[in-house]
Amino acid sequence: MTTDTTKIPNSLEEHWMPFTSNRDFKENPRLITEAKGVYLKNHHGKMMIDASSGLFCNPLGHGRKEITNAVTKQLEQLDYVQPFQQGFGGSFELARRIVKHTPGNLNRIFYTICGSTAVETAIKIVIAYHKARGQGQRFRFVGRERAYHGMNIGATSVGGMINNVKTFASILMPGVLHMRHTHLPEHKFIKGQPSTGAEMAEDLERICMNFGSENIAACIVEPVAGSTGTLVPPKGYLKRLREICDKHGIVLIFDEVITGWGRMGSAFASQEFGVTPDIITMAKATTNGVVPMGAVAVKEEIYDAVMDASPKGAVELFHGYTYSGIPVAVAAALAVQDIFEKEDIFNKAKAMSPYFLDGLFSLKDLSVVDNIRGYGMMGGIDIKLKEKPGRAGFECFKSCYEAGVNFKATGDCLIIAPQFICEKKHIDEIIEKLRAGISNYMKK
Ligand SMILES: Cc1ncc(COP(=O)(O)O)c(C=O)c1O
Repeated sequence: MTTDTTKIPNSLEEHWMPFTSNRDFKENPRLITEAKGVYLKNHHGKMMIDASSGLFCNPLGHGRKEITNAVTKQLEQLDYVQPFQQGFGGSFELARRIVKHTPGNLNRIFYTICGSTAVETAIKIVIAYHKARGQGQRFRFVGRERAYHGMNIGATSVGGMINNVKTFASILMPGVLHMRHTHLPEHKFIKGQPSTGAEMAEDLERICMNFGSENIAACIVEPVAGSTGTLVPPKGYLKRLREICDKHGIVLIFDEVITGWGRMGSAFASQEFGVTPDIITMAKATTNGVVPMGAVAVKEEIYDAVMDASPKGAVELFHGYTYSGIPVAVAAALAVQDIFEKEDIFNKAKAMSPYFLDGLFSLKDLSVVDNIRGYGMMGGIDIKLKEKPGRAGFECFKSCYEAGVNFKATGDCLIIAPQFICEKKHIDEIIEKLRAGISNYMKK
């Protein structure tokens, strides 16, 4: 007999939930029992609209038959292959499909398990690359304040969210430096890219000056910072980072775990903003979120340098995971690629973006709304501080959940990232329910 996992469990105590106020949750749980298209059903039987594509990972909607069928077929035919010194055709085919979309010559794909492992893999590839070229002294990584890159040691170290860092400060990577974030006080209610703030990129030049550019391995940024509330890069900022990296031989990594696969309106934010990094990390929407998978796209010169540094027959990079590019993840990702093409999904996202952003900005009149930002199919609504950071955001999130709209809140920011299959009526529903939820919060 199988267990019905959609039922309310007998005990909530044993599961230590991630990034959750466990005690608060267990007193008043929010359990999801079904998901279909743009809707979720909770354990009270109430339908809610999914306004953040899960955790920015299901842009194609929930319950896609094409993906379920591909995964089922794969499991029946070939459920697992060990990925070291062995392989199967699908992962090569998927890499070919992915590099059709990556910019420049980022044509080599290393599979990982998730976004965090993609970032950690990128860090290791950078070190291996510099060593291969006789530049092993480059050990410093430059991240940015308000960045989220995941939660293993590498990703936590280059991240820039203080609550994620302070408990673990003693075990983080040495030598990591942070640029300031680009969210300036004058960036109020700006739709799209702010026209001021490109000079924040000079922080990288300053770090080069103070710490020796010859010691710096890579600079990693999210082109648009997602988890801290859609911080859109000022015009010219990413281009300037690229110039500084080129000048000093620093590898530029774009972490596109959220922005990749159409969220900004192009396949990658790199194309949207016209700046090509040396490495891109991706995860989430790669499989529409249904099977864990991440990937690192690397430019050919980096791959070639690492290959050429080892004799033929040797393992060139001592790195990999049991679940690197396993059949079930590949099957889901290939089905996702088919849907991207068949439904012209990136253009669909681009076409819906103005309507979505107009809707989001229409919430400006609510007195507790402190700021709104947005680009593509993602936006952030800052709620005015209440007593201490995070309280307003969390209360507002709960009130919106009651009103029938689900999303991710970080601190006092509500992050809204609709699915790309949304029609205008769904966007309208998201905005109406946000208005109701925020208004109810104001009355409490
Ligand atoms: C930009 C970015 N990088 C990395 C990660 C980590 O991904 P994962 O949770 O799959 O490890 C995230 C997760 O939200 C992210 O937003």
